[in-house]
Amino acid sequence: MILVLVGPPGAGKGTQAKLLCARFGIPQISTGDMLREAKRVGTLEKRYLDIMDSGGLLPDEAVIGLIAQRTAEPDCGAGFLLDGFPRTVPQANALDELLASQGGRRIDAVLQLDVPRPLLEERLIHRRTDKRSGQIYHLVYNPPPPGAELEHRADDRPEAVTKRLDAYEAMTAALLPFYEQKQLLRRVDGVGKPDEVTHRVLSAIGRSGSGGE
Ligand code: AP5
Repeated sequence: MILVLVGPPGAGKGTQAKLLCARFGIPQISTGDMLREAKRVGTLEKRYLDIMDSGGLLPDEAVIGLIAQRTAEPDCGAGFLLDGFPRTVPQANALDELLASQGGRRIDAVLQLDVPRPLLEERLIHRRTDKRSGQIYHLVYNPPPPGAELEHRADDRPEAVTKRLDAYEAMTAALLPFYEQKQLLRRVDGVGKPDEVTHRVLSAIGRSGSGGE
């Protein structure tokens, strides 16, 4: 099964990705996580680091290669879930070509999480991530347990949040008609408890009654 999660920053892509991947036993491929890991180990080029921290999008070629490499790994044989890729129409075209070159694989569904902008801002500004486990928390809606080693993402500062939301509207929203035309797009209301949203996602892909793949 190959799933793509699309939605603005803070829509809950990472939160839903973890729940869905656990359910279907497929890996989560998050370009944001891959780039943050490269930043942590010091291999992310400075020009990309600056773009990322300020809330801009990296050039397409910087992320397409990452996806080509990662999806060719053995654990992706039974499928995977893409979180944060593609983000532009050229990335979506590159993904189609890549899947075709991997023995004619195809996307099963593109899930768009819908959340109104004021709620997105509120989710992002109060997000914290546990450095050790990668678990995502919200200081109000899903408070971290005592002892969690919390990280506040550089791009969750208010000015970077505004830039990221604007970049989504300017660039990534163009993906929606692209996938709608291919009849792959499923719109899901992303407001509500994470489990409720997961339930809606599963219904949208016709898997609400199944325990897994
Ligand atoms: P990336 O890491 O992909 O960030 P993003 O798309 O901005 O998405 P976020 O991780 O901010 O939000 P999310 O939707 O995953 O929400 P989450 O589940 O964490 O990318 C970061 C940067 O990398 C980009 O800006 C760009 O520079 C670069 N990049 C990455 N991919 C790229 C690409 N393909 N091309 C070019 N550049 C790229 O939830 C957010 C908060 O809300 C959390 O606190 C969570 O606890 C809370 N929450 C989640 N669900 C709920 C709910 N149902 N109810 C209440 N609270 C909730």
